[in-house]
Amino acid sequence: MSREEYLVKYLKEYLSRKQLKLSQENYSLLLREFLRFAHDPTQEGTFLVPTSDGSLTLINKFYGEPYHSQTAGAIRESLYKFIYPSKILEKARKEEIIRILDVGFGLGYNIAIALKHIWEINPNVKVEIVSLEKDVKKDIPLLPEPYKEFHKLVLSAIPEYEDEKLKLRVFLGDARKEIRKLTNFKANAVFHDAFSPYKNPELWTYEFLKLIKENIDPYGYWVSYSSALCVRKALFLLGFQVGSSREVGRKRKGTVASLKAPVPPLDEDEVRKLHLSSFSKPLRDENLSKEPLEILLDYLVEVYNLRGE
Ligand SMILES: C[S@@+](CC[C@H](N)C(=O)[O-])C[C@H]1O[C@@H](n2cnc3c(N)ncnc32)[C@H](O)[C@@H]1O
Repeated sequence: MSREEYLVKYLKEYLSRKQLKLSQENYSLLLREFLRFAHDPTQEGTFLVPTSDGSLTLINKFYGEPYHSQTAGAIRESLYKFIYPSKILEKARKEEIIRILDVGFGLGYNIAIALKHIWEINPNVKVEIVSLEKDVKKDIPLLPEPYKEFHKLVLSAIPEYEDEKLKLRVFLGDARKEIRKLTNFKANAVFHDAFSPYKNPELWTYEFLKLIKENIDPYGYWVSYSSALCVRKALFLLGFQVGSSREVGRKRKGTVASLKAPVPPLDEDEVRKLHLSSFSKPLRDENLSKEPLEILLDYLVEVYNLRGE
């Protein structure tokens, strides 16, 4: 079955399950947007590609996306979208323990790069990391120098490792369930690095972000490469202050959020969109168990106001 056939069939079943009768015009609109945004359920596997800073990444065929930005470069994206805006390097100067919640372990790049820079600043700081990941790949390319040793350490530490300077736990499985195992973990930084919100919606919903909120220090920073309105709106509704991180290469701004610490402000246009755009609605997963395609369809129905015809 082709991607299109699969998604058309899924949409028809969805409409019948929800007893949603759409006019021909609205059906075509919903189908067009669904085909535009949904992942490709008929594909699996990965292949290797270079990124603009010389590091390698994988493309995931199911999501149709790379694990890291090819245009920004995997290492640069990690530094400018995650590590610097999370302010963990400033915290490493003065704290004895740094806690990171890593949503989407992927190839382990973000945490390997973070470890190198944290210990460069303060070799004595203990780093506690919890990573969430449903699918650890076997063919992970090693980061180049000066990150290689840190990357090897991270990869050899899966699923659990502890010494006097590092405690790493990778919770293997659907992050929506696994995150509930976390207790007494107030993250100084959350690296939120799932695939993009429409392709991987279950990790960007209001309900999942609410679970993240329970596990972040009030002065900690939630950071992501994504500036999607559905994500920013969910964070805003959950009581986070929402700001943006700078563009890197051709990659757009990311998002920085915190419950109590100051964040770099959104510009006027971003504030206007956050409050007025019809796309500024959170993705919803009321019981944290919906199929990702259903989360996307529920969102599109809401955005295009296709209910109650
Ligand atoms: C963009 S990649 C993460 C890249 C990673 N942060 C790095 O630095 O290499 C997103 C990851 O999220 C994982 N993921 C997607 N949906 C998930 C889910 N429901 N539960 C757990 N992991 C999930 C994917 O398997 C993928 O490895």
